[in-house]
Amino acid sequence: MSDKATLEINGQKHEFPLVTGTENEVAIDIKTLRGVTGGVTTVDPGYKNTGSCESAITFLDGEKGILRYRGYSIEELADKADFLEVAYLLIFGELPNAEELAKFHADIKKHAVVDDDIKKILDAFPKAAHPMGVLASLTSALTAFNPTSVNVDSEEEMYNAIVRILGKFPILVAWTMRKKHGMPLDYGSTSLGYVENILQMMFKRPDEDYTQNPILVNALDKLLILHADHEQNCSTSTVRITGSSHAGLFVSLSAGISALWGPLHGGANQAVLEMLEAIKEDGGDTKKYMAKAKDKSDPFRLMGFGHRVYKNFDPRAKIIKVAADEVLGDLGVEDPILDIAKGLEKEALEDQYFVDRKLYPNVDFYSGIIYRAMGIPTEMFTVMFALGRLPGWIAQWKEMRTRKEPIGRPRQLYIGETYRPFKEIEKR
Ligand code: SDX
Repeated sequence: MSDKATLEINGQKHEFPLVTGTENEVAIDIKTLRGVTGGVTTVDPGYKNTGSCESAITFLDGEKGILRYRGYSIEELADKADFLEVAYLLIFGELPNAEELAKFHADIKKHAVVDDDIKKILDAFPKAAHPMGVLASLTSALTAFNPTSVNVDSEEEMYNAIVRILGKFPILVAWTMRKKHGMPLDYGSTSLGYVENILQMMFKRPDEDYTQNPILVNALDKLLILHADHEQNCSTSTVRITGSSHAGLFVSLSAGISALWGPLHGGANQAVLEMLEAIKEDGGDTKKYMAKAKDKSDPFRLMGFGHRVYKNFDPRAKIIKVAADEVLGDLGVEDPILDIAKGLEKEALEDQYFVDRKLYPNVDFYSGIIYRAMGIPTEMFTVMFALGRLPGWIAQWKEMRTRKEPIGRPRQLYIGETYRPFKEIEKR
């Protein structure tokens, strides 16, 4: 293959370098486009064909349904690693040895407290507030209690900021849920593992000891791994572009939480459960919802289906579907919603509309069924997505800042009014 792309504009030919990644993906480097063509740019709503950066963190192959973190397959990581190992891998680029992992967890535990004044901010929210709005606000509020900006050129300062947010974020997640349920705010215990402690902070009743259920621990650990990173998705791109102005890590994460909330993105896991519940209330009439999803005059979409990159099965959905069966079986939970989900999946995979558009179940289609079986309320599902995605957001923010990438500022194609003189109000 040639190492150049040629573009002809108004009879003039321009050459641009072709760059090839380690997985043999090819991109046109158009850094000089506007300069050499006298102002011609590109336009690509939703960036469906446009790469925002070069990254060494996560590789997706949407046609083959491949997902790898730093070269390790999602299947092996979900099966053999734990969430803290995967967080370390994403952020620092290598799987930790036993000593590195122990130190990482110990350093995180040192920061697993928040200023008590956070409780005053939390108390100001009505119980009806959506947990994602509360979490985005509390994450941003952490800046008030940790005001010093991170010197990204200092490995020590960067490391300390990373373990600080990894220690504090689970507390914000747990307290967001407990506030909604009117439960006292629990700190858990530093004697526990990372995921065990999250479960204890979320579920411990004030009047009882909390007994860890290994089924729940394993299920949550696997779900967090599966959500940990996903290259330049909407919320990660938000974290990167926010951080590109040199805004701090915590506020960049808060921006990512807000982007993730949308029902087309991380908010889909909540929307899937609400859709499945509606189908159940409708007597399990999946055909009606399939018809709605295909009706262009109806804004309804089959939530949990389709993906910008995966035009094959989302490998995470495959793993979560198996886990849903296992977890519900182990817990002895009979949930008709799971059967409705499986029926809907079967129908969609045989429907020409979905086949033609290569719409397969994505990560959000089955995850809520497990969260629900674990006793996590539907409104908290996207918060759990954010908890999993935290290390990925951190890794991507760190990569962007340490590579000294320029501030993100896309171009546009102006299609508005051309010049017109001001019109006095009496003449309008
Ligand atoms: C996540 O990017 C990531 O990596 C995200 C994520 C991550 O880990 O960060 O994987 C997490 O966000 C998963 C996606 C969760 N969202 C949903 O489940 C919401 C439902 N899905 C969609 O709205 C949609 O599929 C998107 C948003 C996920 C992707 O949309 P695209 O790539 O912009 O595709 P599109 O909207 O242009 O759709 C192409 C066609 C259209 O039909 P035509 O105009 O060609 O006739 O497919 C149709 C769409 O109408 N379509 C659907 C559909 N998804 C796409 N039709 C019905 N139901 C759907 N779910």
